[in-house]
Amino acid sequence: MSRATALAHPNIALVKYWGKRDRALNLPAVPSLSVTLDGFSTTTTVSYAEGGPDRLVLGGVERGPAETAKVSRVLDLVWSGGARPAATVWSENNFPTAAGLASSSSAFAALALAAAAAAGQTIDRQRLSVIARQGSGSAARSLWGGFVEWRLGERPDGLDSHGLPLAPAGHWDLRLVVALVSDQKKAVGSTDGMTRTQESCPLYPGWVQSAPQDVEEAKAALQRRDLGALGRVMERSTNKMHATMIATEPSVRYWRPASVAALEVVEGLRAEGTAAYSTLDAGPNVKVLCGAADAERVAGALRAGVPGLLDVITLRIGGDARLLPG
Ligand code: DP6
Repeated sequence: MSRATALAHPNIALVKYWGKRDRALNLPAVPSLSVTLDGFSTTTTVSYAEGGPDRLVLGGVERGPAETAKVSRVLDLVWSGGARPAATVWSENNFPTAAGLASSSSAFAALALAAAAAAGQTIDRQRLSVIARQGSGSAARSLWGGFVEWRLGERPDGLDSHGLPLAPAGHWDLRLVVALVSDQKKAVGSTDGMTRTQESCPLYPGWVQSAPQDVEEAKAALQRRDLGALGRVMERSTNKMHATMIATEPSVRYWRPASVAALEVVEGLRAEGTAAYSTLDAGPNVKVLCGAADAERVAGALRAGVPGLLDVITLRIGGDARLLPG
């Protein structure tokens, strides 16, 4: 086969990845744990042909050499045996790109899967996760649905730093309610933000040192379906990560006034007895983790309590990345 299409869902970290121990291989400084989203997805087609440079068409727009080079790197990692033919890659997101909604996680997972199938290579998911990680770290977690750990690993070559599925989507019927504060591309990308944090934040060592315990707590809470415990560790990891970002020089601050308003709405819901917990990534959008029965109440409270939101979107837990026919 010289052409294949794959679909992957983005994931949102419940325990966050922020910082790299190896920039070239994209190895993390901390372990992390995520939930895969349904509803949002990236669909990517890879087509190999002779001659010419690699091409990347993202959202219908042909991209320049810098963005295409990251894609070429993944194509090189997938290919084995002889010179690789040039490829054209078409990719579409059904949700805002680079706005802190984890678009790079689904993008590189879908790319690795489609590239392997188009090349006729049988590569297991763990190995695809190692490859996708080198496009964007969080993509290591998007090969699988449900709840996924990204193992820190120990090996210098990074072969043991990959996603590990912990529980499928059906394990726990949770919802993630997204308060869409902005759909604009973020001013500071994750990679740059992490580099700055590592270079200048005095809180960074504490962040790295305390992360493994958060993952262990989250795994235990997941196993016993304890939303209070999972929500608390998610908020703790989120706050610690944003504290390191803010204490970086120059400061990396993704929160907007509407983000803070959404956090206060969630605190208010909790004070009234609704189990709802918030998180933010490298962007101003707030995602609220709650049980299926509470999702409507959470969405309604965000709509009523946060002026200027672009949208409130309720998502279920998504499934594995997969090849599409045709
Ligand atoms: C805040 O995976 O986008 O979303 O590896 O440099 O491409 P690179 O970074 P990326 O970072 C995601 C950071 C985060 C937290 C997380 O998803 O764990």
